[in-house]
Amino acid sequence: MKKYLVIGNPIEHSLSPELHNFWIKKNNIKAKYEKMKIGYSDIEKVILNVKNGSIDGVNVTVPYKKAIISYIDHLTPEAEKSKSVNTIYKDNNKIVGHNTDIAGFELSLRNLKYNLKGKKALILGAGGVVPSIILALRNMQASEIVLTNRTMKKAEEIKLFFSNIKIIEWGKIENFDIIINATSVGLKKNDELKINYENLGSNKFFFDIIYNPKETNFLKKAKQLGHKTENGMMMFIYQAHQAFTLWHKIMPKIDDETIKLIKDD
Ligand code: ATR
Repeated sequence: MKKYLVIGNPIEHSLSPELHNFWIKKNNIKAKYEKMKIGYSDIEKVILNVKNGSIDGVNVTVPYKKAIISYIDHLTPEAEKSKSVNTIYKDNNKIVGHNTDIAGFELSLRNLKYNLKGKKALILGAGGVVPSIILALRNMQASEIVLTNRTMKKAEEIKLFFSNIKIIEWGKIENFDIIINATSVGLKKNDELKINYENLGSNKFFFDIIYNPKETNFLKKAKQLGHKTENGMMMFIYQAHQAFTLWHKIMPKIDDETIKLIKDD
């Protein structure tokens, strides 16, 4: 029986075990996938378990996607460029770190047939997932990427790696085609981003990385004003799909049953 894990803190909310175990069962694979809350001092032990074969693959979530890099033998180009690892496996006795968030975000937009070519994107936040979003936006040929974060220093740190993004002051919203909430504001039901929704123009696309709750106030307000909205559910499913395919060499189906599993949770 192969063993897979998602590690993070907090981890209670993670729906990765539901999704992976669903696909494991559908594809008659002898494996189980569990979640584990760990501290920074536990990272090394998890990696040792991958090395000695007692764990076959690991997904990494907040706040360890960056911290885990120093324990990895080989980073894939995606992990290297984003400085973020969310998927781990062993290859030729080496621990490999990969990033499937980039593809997850990109596929969720492509799936909507939203064409980013020539569009101006505004990202709210500068946390761990933001480099992956920038790389995906670039892959899809967004014409301009603007970043704004409450703590300016963190936005500037991201600009060190992505020189052609533009940084603006927190609270000052510029003209955009797509706005992406990559902050943690919205995870709690009453959370509100301080945005003046009145002067944003019409027919914009509001994307929230958060998928639980399904509709943050950010999306709710945008919807009321007639904008297009999307939460992070499909991004979550696609990043898991990429990890599953890599580990099991089987491409699981993303069908209504899969979506219902996550939507109804
Ligand atoms: P990490 O930095 O560990 O990756 P994260 O949860 O991915 O953390 O990122 C949290 C993001 O939400 C950050 O951009 C954070 O802004 P700061 O850099 O200023 O902390 C943002 N955030 C969290 N609470 C916020 C709030 N009340 N208002 C605005 N932004 C907030």
